[in-house]
Amino acid sequence: MDIIKIDEHTFKPLFTKDQIHERVKALGKQISRDYEGKDPIMVGVLNGCYLFIADLSRELSILHEIDFIKISSYGNEMQSSGQIKVIKDFSAKLAGQDVIVVEDIVDSGLSVDFLRKKIMAMKPASLKFVSLLKKKGTAKIDFEIEYVGFEIDNKFVIGYGLDYKQNYRDLKQIYQLVE
Ligand code: PRP
Repeated sequence: MDIIKIDEHTFKPLFTKDQIHERVKALGKQISRDYEGKDPIMVGVLNGCYLFIADLSRELSILHEIDFIKISSYGNEMQSSGQIKVIKDFSAKLAGQDVIVVEDIVDSGLSVDFLRKKIMAMKPASLKFVSLLKKKGTAKIDFEIEYVGFEIDNKFVIGYGLDYKQNYRDLKQIYQLVE
């Protein structure tokens, strides 16, 4: 776990591999308990969720399906543009299903709000959100997330699925921009 330098930016470690693993394990346990006897569908929000959903899925002791949706709000910028586009829609029929949306990070809440409205229109049996990270004090609207891994300061973060200009998602730890 070292400082890393990318372009003119410096990033410092925020969460270790072990801290992430422990938290994902705890979330998996909690979700398995809450959904005991059910077979929810986990809808990962690409691209950032890919490592988190892979690890979370393997910490669930209940049956569950996996599907994905790809939306984009950030592009290659460090700040959210606020414009949300569906790039790849999910394929599962969500009507009557227990749906859990899996996010890597929630910032303004606009993606959560967009997805909640889109999925609720499909009449699921229930809908909850899980996000590994949630930024503090950056909400642009009122929204709810039922399961949060870590609340973090409003700093740009990379690693464990989170990118800098589409790269560095493979970093095993999560790093925070030093401003
Ligand atoms: C990130 C993240 C969420 C969204 C959160 O996606 O995965 O979907 O931004 O921000 P918000 O709360 O301000 O809406 P991003 O657009 O960076 O795409 P990526 O997952 O492909 O990196």
